[in-house]
Amino acid sequence: MTLSTTPVALPDHGVVPAVWGRVTHIDVERGEGSWLIAKDGRRYLDYSSGIGVTNTGHAHPRVVAAVQAQAAKLLHGQQNIVFHEPGLRLYERLRSLMPGGPWGAFLSNSGAEAVEAAVKLARVATGRAAIIAFRGGFHGRTAQTMALTSAKNIYRGHFEPLPGSVYHADFPYCYRAAGGPHPIEACNCDWEEGLDLLFHQLIFPERVAAVIVEPVLGEGGYVVPPPTFLPRLREITRRHGILLIADEVQTGFGRTGELFALRHWDVEPDILVMAKGIASGLPLSGILARRELLERWAPGAHGGTYGGNVVSCAAANATLDVIEDEGLVANAAARGRQLLDGLRTAQGRFPSLGDVRGLGCMVGLEFVRPGQGDGRVPDPDVVKRVLAAALERDLIVLSAGSYAQVVRIIPPLVTTPGEVDRALGILVDSLEAAAA
Ligand SMILES: Cc1ncc(COP(=O)(O)O)c(C=O)c1O
Repeated sequence: MTLSTTPVALPDHGVVPAVWGRVTHIDVERGEGSWLIAKDGRRYLDYSSGIGVTNTGHAHPRVVAAVQAQAAKLLHGQQNIVFHEPGLRLYERLRSLMPGGPWGAFLSNSGAEAVEAAVKLARVATGRAAIIAFRGGFHGRTAQTMALTSAKNIYRGHFEPLPGSVYHADFPYCYRAAGGPHPIEACNCDWEEGLDLLFHQLIFPERVAAVIVEPVLGEGGYVVPPPTFLPRLREITRRHGILLIADEVQTGFGRTGELFALRHWDVEPDILVMAKGIASGLPLSGILARRELLERWAPGAHGGTYGGNVVSCAAANATLDVIEDEGLVANAAARGRQLLDGLRTAQGRFPSLGDVRGLGCMVGLEFVRPGQGDGRVPDPDVVKRVLAAALERDLIVLSAGSYAQVVRIIPPLVTTPGEVDRALGILVDSLEAAAA
């Protein structure tokens, strides 16, 4: 018998169900730092980071080495059954990532699963049922996390009924404030009055277990809050004995130019949710919670077969080493500034580019239809054209926002000044091509 050397043709893309809404049709071969390399050899600058995951870049050699070494030893060391070294090291390490505390961690697989854990812990620890989330927030695609999510109708609209005792408050979205757009430093959004009204109309604050908030809205459009928002929210939640859950799934692990975004405002949550950037692409998530809260969880009250997978934990330990040793948090701040400065300089040339905003390597461009309505009518069409024009020029960026009216740019934190300049050039060309 001879073995054929003819490569077997790839199955058609149609084998992947359409529910995976498509961003590109790239057949990928491999990744390398900020780059994805297609099977036909074409190189794409990946400023999606696989939706904010590859903070250390694609296939960082230290992360790959840690994964390979661990995979050769043990693939699955179930957490109820054994203790494994990568897990023990990671659990210990996570406890010291945030000031304050003292903290304990719990490990799971996906962002949504970690949000579920946060809600379950908050309810057990407080004996209260209700949860408050923010309009425009995204927390996942499981039943509970869909109920918390309001970034876009597609995430929840087909799936009613959803779990109850969830209330939504307004996030201070300064560009879309009722009184007109204003700089975040001069915020006059009435989110606090809205929250107070919610307490008077819908739910007693003493029945609320937790408020969950993304420090910067992610899927909702990369909305950076005013500097007073999170400190004030912390005060309000404390006053009512409500736990504050920070969903740092997208903002965590250096993304915003701090290890966790809440550090920008010196705010200490009760529970912090993490995923995405934690393990450079291997499935891993978790929560950090004040230890006295974690102790309220009885053995068996929560868990899962795969949570804290041993290979993922090895990847996470290596990821944390890389973030630290390569100064990626500082690089995120510097490259984010470079990107934001470049885009703001170009903004005046494009009448439909209503707002340019961001924090660290989380940068958003909001598009509107100039001359229509109050000048802030969302324009998802121009976003589609910008994304397509950027892809033609080998740059991958994503959309966000309730109307898909925002281009979001999520570079890996290893990106270089040269790559940012290249992305800026492509973005400006793409805005021109899209007649923005
Ligand atoms: C802020 C936030 N929370 C939760 C999630 C859900 O994470 P996952 O898709 O891993 O379940 C996401 C995913 O984009 C997110 O951005």
